[in-house]
Amino acid sequence: MSSEEMLYAKGSKIWIPHAEQVWESASLEESYHKGDTILKIQTESGALKEIKLKPDGSNLPPLRNPAILVGQNDLTTLSYLHEPGVLYNLRVRFCERQIIYTYCGIILVAINPYADLPLYGPNIIRAYRGHAMGDLEPHIFALAEEAYTKLERENCNLSIIVSGESGAGKTVSAKYAMRYFAAVGGSESETQVERKVLASSPIMEAFGNAKTTRNDNSSRFGKFTKLLFTNQMGVMYLQGATVHTYLLEKSRVVYQAQGERNYHIFYQLCAARAKYPELVLDHQDNYQFLNMGGSPDIERISDADQFNETVQAMTVLGFSIQQIADIVKILAGILHLGNIEVSKKYMEGSDVEDSDSCDIFQNDLHLQVTGDLLKINAEDLRRWLLMRKIESANEYVLIPNNKEMAMAARDALAKHIYAKLFQYIVNVLNKSLHNGSKQCSFIGVLDIYGFETFEVNSFEQFCINYANEKLQQQFNQHVFKLEQEEYLKEGITWTMIDFYDNQPCIDLIETRLGVLDLLDEECRMPKGSDESWAGKLVDKCNKFPHFEKPRFGTTSFFIKHFSDTVEYDVNGFLEKNRDTVSKELTNVLAQSNMQLCKQVMILEEVDTLGTDANKMATTLGGRVVISANRKQQLNETRRRVVSSKQHKKTVGSQFQESLTSLISTLHATTPHYVRCIKPNDDKIAFKWETAKIIQQLRACGVLETVRISAAGFPSRWLYPDFYMRYQLLAHRSQIDKNDMKQSCRNIVLKWIQDEDKYRFGNTQIFFRAGQVAYLEQVRANLRKKYITTVQSVVRRFIKRRRYVRLQKIIFGIQRHARGYMARMRAQKLREARAALILSKYARGWLCRRRYLRLCHSVAGIQQYARGMLARNRFYAMRDYYRAVQIQRFVRGVLARRAYQKRRRSIIICQSAVRRFLARRQFKRMKAEAKTISHMENKYMGLENKIISMQQRIDELNRDNSALKHKTSEISVLKMKLEMKKNLEHEFKNIKAACLDKDKLIEALNKQLESERDEKMQLLEENGHSQEEWNQQKQIWCNENRELRKQVDSMIEMAKNAAGNQREHEERMLTEIDNKELNEAYQRAIKDKEVIENENYLLKEELSHFQQQHNGIAAFNMHHTRTASNASSQNEDDIGYGSAKNTLEINSRYPDLRNKNDSFLDNTSIVVKLRSILEEEKQKHRSLQEQYVKLASRNKPTEDSFRPTCCPPRGST
Ligand SMILES: Nc1ncnc2c1ncn2[C@@H]1O[C@H](COP(=O)(O)OP(=O)(O)OP(=O)(O)O)[C@@H](O)[C@H]1O
Ligand SMILES: [Mg+2]
Repeated sequence: MSSEEMLYAKGSKIWIPHAEQVWESASLEESYHKGDTILKIQTESGALKEIKLKPDGSNLPPLRNPAILVGQNDLTTLSYLHEPGVLYNLRVRFCERQIIYTYCGIILVAINPYADLPLYGPNIIRAYRGHAMGDLEPHIFALAEEAYTKLERENCNLSIIVSGESGAGKTVSAKYAMRYFAAVGGSESETQVERKVLASSPIMEAFGNAKTTRNDNSSRFGKFTKLLFTNQMGVMYLQGATVHTYLLEKSRVVYQAQGERNYHIFYQLCAARAKYPELVLDHQDNYQFLNMGGSPDIERISDADQFNETVQAMTVLGFSIQQIADIVKILAGILHLGNIEVSKKYMEGSDVEDSDSCDIFQNDLHLQVTGDLLKINAEDLRRWLLMRKIESANEYVLIPNNKEMAMAARDALAKHIYAKLFQYIVNVLNKSLHNGSKQCSFIGVLDIYGFETFEVNSFEQFCINYANEKLQQQFNQHVFKLEQEEYLKEGITWTMIDFYDNQPCIDLIETRLGVLDLLDEECRMPKGSDESWAGKLVDKCNKFPHFEKPRFGTTSFFIKHFSDTVEYDVNGFLEKNRDTVSKELTNVLAQSNMQLCKQVMILEEVDTLGTDANKMATTLGGRVVISANRKQQLNETRRRVVSSKQHKKTVGSQFQESLTSLISTLHATTPHYVRCIKPNDDKIAFKWETAKIIQQLRACGVLETVRISAAGFPSRWLYPDFYMRYQLLAHRSQIDKNDMKQSCRNIVLKWIQDEDKYRFGNTQIFFRAGQVAYLEQVRANLRKKYITTVQSVVRRFIKRRRYVRLQKIIFGIQRHARGYMARMRAQKLREARAALILSKYARGWLCRRRYLRLCHSVAGIQQYARGMLARNRFYAMRDYYRAVQIQRFVRGVLARRAYQKRRRSIIICQSAVRRFLARRQFKRMKAEAKTISHMENKYMGLENKIISMQQRIDELNRDNSALKHKTSEISVLKMKLEMKKNLEHEFKNIKAACLDKDKLIEALNKQLESERDEKMQLLEENGHSQEEWNQQKQIWCNENRELRKQVDSMIEMAKNAAGNQREHEERMLTEIDNKELNEAYQRAIKDKEVIENENYLLKEELSHFQQQHNGIAAFNMHHTRTASNASSQNEDDIGYGSAKNTLEINSRYPDLRNKNDSFLDNTSIVVKLRSILEEEKQKHRSLQEQYVKLASRNKPTEDSFRPTCCPPRGST
């Protein structure tokens, strides 16, 4: 199976061309086989298509990269390096992940997001500082850091080449790169340098940028900024900068296309015109040079603010106020110059227009203002606008200009002034940015227009595309060189990569009898024209493969540039190349009274970079200069020879020279490339227009880089990495872990037969494009095979395991089933037997039950029959019995009735008898009662009865009283018993309380003992203090006595003294003495107060003791009292001195007497102390009295010390 067949298998993803999207994804419906001429595919949209193939398979569609590689940081790491792969990777990053930067080898591709992204803050700068390019996400800072690190490490010159089409973000990228360098290379002491470098941007943008249809802030010149660094102790510090500009678009000063503007500075000046009334400026719309585009404003930008920013930046960069004022005057002069009206002229005395001449009104306001502002002679200006001078061998002729010529002369002058002013500003910037001190190395940032191709391409596009051809060549050579270095380092032999060398195209432009040479020649021809030049081009350049003549007409020609074939319209080429301006007009300006104007007009066009480059070329020393560079130098020398012959340099030749010096400068540096891509023309954020982007990728060399990479050995693998990834591609015998190199060699040799497809380097293996993908495919296939084997083994294992498990399960089930069936049979047998037995028993049971039931019925019948018979018998017997009973009762009743009857009859008989007898008795007793003896007997009996009754009553009374007595006795006894019980209870309580109190008394006695000791001490101390007090008192008494004596003597002296003066003096002396006396007295009083305080403290202590003792006494008294006599105590007599109390206590509780002895001793001490205190008080009082007496005796001097010495009596 060939590698193609392997890669183009069914289901593989490929790219196919698409009309709108450029490339569309599709998948193969069928596998490709060598020799197939048709490839069946299905597009992403689902459509089935067929692609025609060449039999050799050379036009197979490009393969898609594996999904894992999509969105790579570096495009060259893609497995398939082709246009759709690159485009898709960029698209995924930009549209889906919103990442604008991507590496493509050494190039940084930056897609303009048209949105403010938070990617450029100081934190991000810090984050990228010190990190290598691959460490973090691709970024302009990463590229700048790479350059800066190289500068620090190698001290060499570097450059960052930013290119891209207009509006792609070149200037923004260059600014960010410069900001990075200013941030990392700024020294603490020289912050001004960074400020200046950063401030140069607004000035350059104000004077060199303008609004175009493609970019609101389009740079209309190329700029190469050299940031100069000095090495200070191994650290590179930004020391200054120089700015080199290329091909300023002068035509914009006098002409702007629809929707475009002139340079920003003009609009800024008009917006700030109020600040400069002397400029006599009007609104921008009133100036011809400003209103052509009809688009005077830029969205969200204030020209007035921008002007302030520009002026501020100019101030930072050292422009003086006068310089700024002069610059604005020149700018205003250009605007007024544009408004000078050139009118038709008529033949003298007729209405016929003179087509050969024209006129300018002498008092034209703008003419006058221009003259005033530029301090030139307005009349001279007018004159040379209307006339021109033609010089011949010995004389010159003045020829009038027609209107068009006059206007062209005016516009040419305006362009010339502006170009010179721009050059002047750049010069001033350079002077300010670089003070000339020795610098070490530089990093150049080139912000130059990218390849341009429009519908109508003119001289400007030609120059721009020429510059891009040169830059592309430089880029190709650099990439080539890098490749070469890499191969040399790896020690592999290689043949020259077939990379696109655009030298033939450059030759077409700059070689002898090339486009530029013919153009210059034509310009030198007095009658040269664009058309004749076009004809010559077709004649002479047709031999160049990169030249193409137009199919129709002769006003254009084609050049096949590296990125595209461009058709150039020859109209205006000569004029633009000549860039002629009237010498007389420039002389008028050169004779201006304004210093700056004069200076500007005489500025020499010096190629500063060229001079620098020459200087550098001498210092290049041992640098490797590759062949292409040498060729270039040859061209350069040839060019110089040619140009030396010229009188005045044409724009083309000037541009060529500056370009040559730029390229040689770049060759002497290590370049870094930033390719800016404009994703859409509508300036919409993150909008992707594939066709536009692919065109730019082609134009800016990204695809060329990819192609160069792909042409050489783009895929490189370190041996260990390769070994790790592809070791499975060789047999185990060919793999040796300890010799990875040989193992890798074996793998490669086994799979890649064509020796040209790979190289073995010292550390890496190099592969041609697609080989790694092929190896990957082989690896994938092998893996697939191995995986299939592993899968089959695993599947077999799984299936077998399942089979064994199933078999086991089936056996189990069978076993269980058989067992079950046997069990079922046994069960059946058992059940049959059981049923037999059961039926046997059941039958028996049924028979028995029938039998029993029968028995039971028979017995029941018998039972009932017998019962009936018995009941019948019973009823008969019961009836018999009842009959008997009735008979019995009847017979009884009859018998009782007969008995009762008989008995009543008997009783009646008896009662009749007894009545008879009683009547007889009664009659007899009645007769007896009627006798006295009988009565007496009766009375006697009654009397005896009364007496006995009386006796009985007495007895009873006696008993009664005795009982009463006993009852009262019982109640008394009861009370006594109750009382006794209470007493007993109380006694018990008292006994317990007594025990507690005893303990307390013991403790108190101990306390009393210790307090007594303390008191003794206190008493002793008191005695001592008393003694001291007495001694002191004695001293005071003595002093007092002496003082009295002195006072007496003084009084005596006072009496004897004569004269008021003397009296006064003496009084003074006395006062002094009295003062002493008074002081002594004060001292005494203080001492006395001290003693009184002590006394008071003693008293306090005493009273404290007294209280304590009182408490004890009270406690003791309370303790000794009983409830019965509590109310009888004398409440007043409770003090320590109360004899009654003591006595009473002693008498009542003799056992307490011993315990209270110590307490009594204390009391006596206290009493003694009291008496001492009283004595002291007495003495004190007497002392006081003595003092009062003394004081009254000193009456004559009393007034002098009364306020201080008179002690208030009450206070003592
Ligand atoms: N990295 C970026 N982030 C945000 N916006 C950007 C970025 N780069 C460019 N832009 C936007 O694109 C606009 C055009 O950029 P810029 O002026 O740098 O283009 P250019 O390539 O210098 O064009 P020209 O060749 O016309 O000078 C900027 O004004 C800005 O709005
Ligand atoms: Mg720009």
